[in-house]
Amino acid sequence: MSSPRSGIAGLGFAVPERVLTNRDLEKMVETTDEWIRTRTGISERRIAAPGTGTSDLGAAAAIKAISSAGLKPSDIDLIIAATTTPDMPLPSCACLIQQKIGAQQAAAFDLAAACAGFVYGLTTADSFVRSGAYRNVLVVGADQISSFIDWTDRSTCVLFGDGAGAAVVRSRSEGGILSSVIGSDGAHAELLKIAGGGSCRPASAETLESKQHFLYMSGSEVFKLAVRGMADAVSTALERSGTRMDEVTCLIPHQANQRIIDAVSERLGFPKEKVFINLDKYGNTSAASCAIALCEAVEQGRIHKGDKIVMATFGAGLVWGAMVIQW
Ligand code: UT7
Repeated sequence: MSSPRSGIAGLGFAVPERVLTNRDLEKMVETTDEWIRTRTGISERRIAAPGTGTSDLGAAAAIKAISSAGLKPSDIDLIIAATTTPDMPLPSCACLIQQKIGAQQAAAFDLAAACAGFVYGLTTADSFVRSGAYRNVLVVGADQISSFIDWTDRSTCVLFGDGAGAAVVRSRSEGGILSSVIGSDGAHAELLKIAGGGSCRPASAETLESKQHFLYMSGSEVFKLAVRGMADAVSTALERSGTRMDEVTCLIPHQANQRIIDAVSERLGFPKEKVFINLDKYGNTSAASCAIALCEAVEQGRIHKGDKIVMATFGAGLVWGAMVIQW
């Protein structure tokens, strides 16, 4: 039987131990702590140890989320791993996470929606749970983007960090996911991409030489589109759920740049003190960003039962998403 609504029953996150500070970056590229903090809001980020993969971070976050939902890995029916930096092209990151956490009963697949992956993943899980197809869906937003960063490119290497966040989605009789909006515009695909190593340009001496395996971003273009995309997605999600802006107690934005977050809140007329920020500690962790932020906001007592919160995100594709949740 289909359920009226789904909600988040458990959350968890994991970041690597190694901290890379702005001061460390000053020794690697021509940049300054002051530039990075004032232009982005980032002070430090976490970087995974060599030999580890996205599935290691994803599995660590997943185990915490399953336990906080009061479940066992064998209770999970479906694993959705939102990532654009899987350990390898195949098998999927979701299958590697499944093996690492021992969720033998689950179906597993990856979802590629870059930084919007967690909201895309929750939206997909919500549909599966409401349709009655699956009971306990694990959504993991995880990216080890440091493996795709050109550590000599100051325009990108200061922005990103590694991490994973996970949520267990189950049916709920009240509250839960009230609305979600996901969107995309492939016309802007060129603005943010990793061009090499795929089917179009398989790995070769030439693709390595021309650094095509690294992330490229046209930062200022993405900046403008991100502000509009996130603000519009939030407005639509609020409208669809019949929620007024002043009912929202916490906004969890994609943690890419403090200036983007400020511009989105300004555009929406949303008070800055209700916006949750942790990008100073982690930088932009791509698909993990909103997941880690949501988890920390709950841990820090910023979200209480019954509260209405909004998540908003944006990334390569271009893609965007927003979701209204009643806790
Ligand atoms: O998660 C997916 C979504 N991604 C994003 O949302 C990121 C969106 N973009 C941004 O956050 C910003 O565009 C950046 C932080 C990437 C760049 O900030 P900006 O204010 O757009 O700077 P800019 O690219 O226009 O560059 C301004 C100057 C340039 O120097 P000139 O040409 O004015 O002399 C850059 O070369 O800043 C220079 N610059 C740096 N200087 C010191 C760029 N990176 C650095 C750096 N340190 N790390």
